[in-house]
Amino acid sequence: MSLLLVKQAVGEKAATLIKNGMIVGLGTGSTANCFIDSLILRCRREKLSIQAVASSHQSADRAAKGGIEILDINEAPRIDITVDGADEIDPLKRMIKGGGGAHVREKILAAASREMVVIVDESKLVPQIGVGKLPVEILYYGSPATRLKIENLGLKGMWRMTEEDSLFITENGNVLFDISFDSPPPFPEEIHEELLHIPGVIDTGFFFGLAGRVLVGYLDGRIEIRD
Ligand code: 5RP
Repeated sequence: MSLLLVKQAVGEKAATLIKNGMIVGLGTGSTANCFIDSLILRCRREKLSIQAVASSHQSADRAAKGGIEILDINEAPRIDITVDGADEIDPLKRMIKGGGGAHVREKILAAASREMVVIVDESKLVPQIGVGKLPVEILYYGSPATRLKIENLGLKGMWRMTEEDSLFITENGNVLFDISFDSPPPFPEEIHEELLHIPGVIDTGFFFGLAGRVLVGYLDGRIEIRD
């Protein structure tokens, strides 16, 4: 089974968790896209009436094109269920997100939801988070000073750039500093707290205590549901 088929399978499975009348939070990324596509199909086939709140313009446009009503987050302080992907997830359901640069909005949706359902393929499973990069969203104003403070914690990283080699700007109008660890940090919660104390840091891509059910798709076709 290809990775795309695995993502489609977990997306389809997650779509079966949506009930008529729900307000659904939409994550961002290739796996979240598979969920959105399955949700559109399910709404059409079963005449489900749902509303959605999106973590990015990309996800909002995709869902709206498929006929799903999109609400402004500021009109929907409570969300029934959010379905989103992840870059890394450990056995304690701690995650790193933000590969698509949408983690601040994704975290707001997850925190506003009764449940965040995480959909991943097996390549996202890690024994400890911090194998890949940790995105940190930073206010552009004073960002070189903010970067110095981060580096003074002994952390290394790079500004996220676009393919055209300009600074990547998030939908919130901020920049991203992608931290690389020499090895996964044993206490990621401490690093998260230290980073949040730096003026100019909006949020990190660490997600703690937010994941509900985790749907893991395997290349052999299995889907595991971790409660
Ligand atoms: C976007 C995210 C995504 O959920 C994460 O990057 C996983 O993306 P994909 O499903 O494309 O692998 O956090 O900000």
